[in-house]
Amino acid sequence: MTLSRADLEELDRKDALRQFHARFVLPDGVIYLDGNSLGALPTATPTRIASLIEKEWGRDLIRSWNTHGWIDMQARVGGKIGRLIGAGEGETIVSDSTSINVFKALSAALALNANRRSILSERNNFPTDLYMAEGLLGLLERGHCLRLVEPDEIAGAIDGDTAVVLLTQVSYRTGRAYDMGAITTAAHAKGALTVWDLCHSAGAIPVDFSGANADFAVGCGYKFLNGGPGAPAFITVAHRHQARARPALSGWFGHANPFGFEESYAAADGIARFAVGTPPVLSLAALEVGVDLMLEASINALHAKSLKQFEIFRALMAQELGVHGFSLSSVDGPGGRGSQISYAHPNGWPIVQALIAKGVIGDFRAPDIMRFGFTPLYLGFAELWDAVTILREIMDTRLWDGPEYHRRNKVT
Ligand SMILES: Cc1ncc(COP(=O)(O)O)c(C=O)c1O
Repeated sequence: MTLSRADLEELDRKDALRQFHARFVLPDGVIYLDGNSLGALPTATPTRIASLIEKEWGRDLIRSWNTHGWIDMQARVGGKIGRLIGAGEGETIVSDSTSINVFKALSAALALNANRRSILSERNNFPTDLYMAEGLLGLLERGHCLRLVEPDEIAGAIDGDTAVVLLTQVSYRTGRAYDMGAITTAAHAKGALTVWDLCHSAGAIPVDFSGANADFAVGCGYKFLNGGPGAPAFITVAHRHQARARPALSGWFGHANPFGFEESYAAADGIARFAVGTPPVLSLAALEVGVDLMLEASINALHAKSLKQFEIFRALMAQELGVHGFSLSSVDGPGGRGSQISYAHPNGWPIVQALIAKGVIGDFRAPDIMRFGFTPLYLGFAELWDAVTILREIMDTRLWDGPEYHRRNKVT
């Protein structure tokens, strides 16, 4: 069946999530397909931040740690994120960046499984996860190794020496998703623990941390949670590990009595021990606005819309751009797929730059992946039609081959 713009306008009219569009600042003339990398700005965020700056920081100054509850924000926002990923109460805290939290979770997991020497991951895991593992192993100098296999080999590769399985649930390249429950069960059957990176899962797909019986998770606040550039990240630790999980980064915010100024470290009870230093209060407040918005919508409804947007985008690409050499690199995994579509194209970089110049913002991941994110909270169906129409013009006129589009930027 051939799709028309009118068909997609009809879907927008019927879309129960459409009301959320007005809750975001979205510039005219922009079709934003990069909310999987940096979420859009909620309209409530500038007001919240202005009030925090003027009334809390400006007027109440340092008293705000108590009077405005700054001291409890990491746990409070963490608790809300925990609800989004199906974690139990008191299992999630906002702290640091995802990279740092990978280090914290991995070091705690390795210590819990001290007789084993291997961290198992996949070759195409997000690089920072692997880099942090390498750095940690270099520091430990206890003969650990990082073993990398293909996505489909993970379950079979877990053995009696696997201390931890470290995986990003949804691949940043292809959107392929692992089945968290199945991999965790396979890991536990062999005595291994799991650390899940949920950067492309939290706020994008239904996640059931508790149902999967997972051990540790980390994830970022600036993608689907709409927390703003550099928003702090989260870390989740299952209750059953908290008492024995010793934080390698033993900062005063994770101390049992931070304002006791004691001479040596004593870990706080519960997830609080995974805090490290003074949190970025402004960024935490912005993150809370984004997370609150997410909690207003049903994650199942968001996911259903995202899957539909994927199918429509794919159908439009085939219908309008079949001859232009785009090859779909998104694949489904046993856990389904995340909220994006990716195409490989030898001229992916200049094509994405030409698209951005025409107001269609996606991104590029080396060596040849063009990525388009679906953020069903604010992305409409007709916008997909417009994006593909603009892409067709760019391809038909070879606009992408202009020298200005071949120039590489620092951030892709
Ligand atoms: C899966 C995954 N992990 C980690 C990161 C980045 O971590 P950080 O926020 O520490 O830069 C990203 C960023 O895109 C990511 O996609």
